[in-house]
Amino acid sequence: MTDPLPLANRTPAGEPLLSLRHVGRTFGSVVALSNVTFDIRAGEVLGLVGDNGAGKSTIIKIISGMFPQTSGEVILEGKPRHWTSPQQALSAGIETVYQDVGLAATLSITANIFLGREVVRPGLLGRMGFLDNGAMSKVAQADTAKTGIRLPHLDTTVGNLSGGQRQAITIARSMSWARKLLILDEPTNHLGVPEVEELLRLIRHVRDEGVAVILISHTLAHVMAITDRIVVMRLGEVVAEHVTRESTTAAVVNDIVGATEAEIARSLN
Ligand SMILES: Nc1ncnc2c1ncn2[C@@H]1O[C@H](COP(=O)(O)OP(=O)(O)O)[C@@H](O)[C@H]1O
Ligand SMILES: [Mg+2]
Repeated sequence: MTDPLPLANRTPAGEPLLSLRHVGRTFGSVVALSNVTFDIRAGEVLGLVGDNGAGKSTIIKIISGMFPQTSGEVILEGKPRHWTSPQQALSAGIETVYQDVGLAATLSITANIFLGREVVRPGLLGRMGFLDNGAMSKVAQADTAKTGIRLPHLDTTVGNLSGGQRQAITIARSMSWARKLLILDEPTNHLGVPEVEELLRLIRHVRDEGVAVILISHTLAHVMAITDRIVVMRLGEVVAEHVTRESTTAAVVNDIVGATEAEIARSLN
């Protein structure tokens, strides 16, 4: 898929939307993150890569308010934040698709898209808590259609769907609510090839609307195809940063495994 704008015109200069400064996180005696520093600007797609256990999911859980950092600073639009609930990050315009998909199995597709943000009817009925199911269905229809993934009727209970279909719903939900930052943690895991193409197209669309996107993926071909910059993590630290168009898959892999290990691997071949 070709991109209409050259990369250089896409990454806006100026203040970052989000800055992480020496962010650390411990769980008891486990040091999950020791030193994470990077910036992301509006309208930029940032790839976050690293081996299993590098700390990628932990850093995005901090950004999205699942738990706070134990040290360092999270700065959104110039203000230091120390979120203690996901609701605080959601209110600030940050949406996250988690690796371990969180959907309510007993509810319909529409109900899942509006979970926690239900639309009530206008007037008295709304004040009494009656939901506007018609309005929610319409938005849900449009949002899931955008993902390009075929789904059964939106009244279907989520427990009856495949992994790919569930993933499509969480992605559609996050894309439609994201105002400032969209975080995708391994979003392509349950998707087939056409769905992945569609997802990459959607990420470009969201970025072109001025939303910042953080993409975590083990599939470096996707990361190389879609990102403007790549941050590499290893053992809880940021070890390298690449400007995607000036870098190569091999250079990124080298930073993921660490030069020493790469040399060992080469010497064994
Ligand atoms: N809730 C937790 N309790 C204890 N250790 C954790 C917890 N969450 C993550 N960790 C540890 O932090 C490290 C980073 O994990 P994670 O962020 O999931 O890595 P990644 O997403 O890059 O695979 C791992 O060593 C993991 O075991
Ligand atoms: Mg992870």
